[in-house]
Amino acid sequence: MYKQAAKYIQSIIDTKPFIGIILGSGLGNFAEHIENPTIINYSEIPGFPQTTVAGHKGQFVVGKMYNKNIIAMQGRFHYYEGNDPYQIVLPVRVMKELGIEILIVTNASGGINKDFKPGDFMIIKDHINFSGINPLIGPNFDMLGPRFPDMTHVYDDRLTDLMMDTAYRLNINAYKGIYVMMSGPSYETPAEINMLRILGADAVGMSTVPEVIAAKHAGLKIVGVSCITNMAAGVLDQPLTHNEVIKTADKSEKSFISLISSFICNI
Ligand code: HPA
Repeated sequence: MYKQAAKYIQSIIDTKPFIGIILGSGLGNFAEHIENPTIINYSEIPGFPQTTVAGHKGQFVVGKMYNKNIIAMQGRFHYYEGNDPYQIVLPVRVMKELGIEILIVTNASGGINKDFKPGDFMIIKDHINFSGINPLIGPNFDMLGPRFPDMTHVYDDRLTDLMMDTAYRLNINAYKGIYVMMSGPSYETPAEINMLRILGADAVGMSTVPEVIAAKHAGLKIVGVSCITNMAAGVLDQPLTHNEVIKTADKSEKSFISLISSFICNI
């Protein structure tokens, strides 16, 4: 199925993308900065599901940035939308088939680490898969990668350090940390957040891990950026809302765009 989707996209674009980027909730406007964009709506791609979340558009934007060929996803597929794990990672496999070598994953997340503040960025150094799913369950696609892929160095050390250096030079607050994925769509309870903190997590969200597992399986170099949009449940004595997540992501958008574009310039 991913080959068919990739063929369709190849029939529209005339470049081979080098960098893929998945844009998280409220961070999609990064794609407006891509030069000579070709837009491909998910609804026109054979085998693609639809996105259903406010703040997610549902299209690929293909073009250039600093003379590098880029393919960006404005909108991703979540488990909590009812997607099969296979569908969640379909775009990653399509981007791999199109030729990307580097995948930048981004998301909005709740800060578990009490040193974080909303608006900070966490560069993902490792993750905990607490989602209850693994996208590699089922027959292995041997042409993509091995049955039992290694997960010791999932996030590329060089790219992670480059992202940290880029943030430092731009005066953007960024910390390295561990991302944990919960299935959602309900936010976590304060007791769950305490548990996750004890287990070593710094930020929590409802995405990214399946895509990263599929990307690592397929041999891509991965770097992850999480925008801390709120403090996780129970850290502050206030309820969480999706509005708050989108609002903080909107406010952080300028820093996010300069961080990612300078990073791309420096790769
Ligand atoms: N929990 C889970 N997912 C999230 C959060 C959160 O606090 N904030 C943004 N995405």
